[in-house]
Amino acid sequence: MANNITFTMIKPDAVAAGHIGAILAQINKAGFKIVAMKYTKLSAEKAGEFYDVHRERGFFGELVDFMSSGPIVAAVLEKDNAVEDFRTLIGATDPAKAAPGTIRALFAKNIGENAVHGSDSDENALIEASFHFSKMEMFR
Ligand code: RTP
Ligand code: MG
Repeated sequence: MANNITFTMIKPDAVAAGHIGAILAQINKAGFKIVAMKYTKLSAEKAGEFYDVHRERGFFGELVDFMSSGPIVAAVLEKDNAVEDFRTLIGATDPAKAAPGTIRALFAKNIGENAVHGSDSDENALIEASFHFSKMEMFR
């Protein structure tokens, strides 16, 4: 069942490069409502827990180091068809393959340091939103 929310993080590369404002502007322009948001930093342990599904992949260590390397912006976004529409807005994992005008095409450095996260299913959107936010911190 679609729940019309997705979860995103502006990753450490995009935060360090000063792209928070530009990325939030794209998100607003595309019609997403911000229902929760925080500026925070993941410990290596929390980053590993968040990306647990990738634990056996060759890039896991690099991913954990990167995601815990600096502050991030975590947010829950609401819109009809949020998960799919947000994946379209951010573009492919590898910015070299991301469609022109997508957030990753505009702001990502490479396949590892790729500016933003977007949930890949309605089920994971709920899990990821509650990983970062309590019910009292979400304004739906
Ligand atoms: P995300 O979960 O962050 O939204 O990214 P995604 O769905 O587009 O890609 P996914 O396959 O879930 O990979 C998660 C993150 O791991 C890093 N990665 N590095 N070096 C590599 O080959 C590689 N592949 C993936 C990226 O930061 C990717 O977003
Ligand atoms: Mg993913």
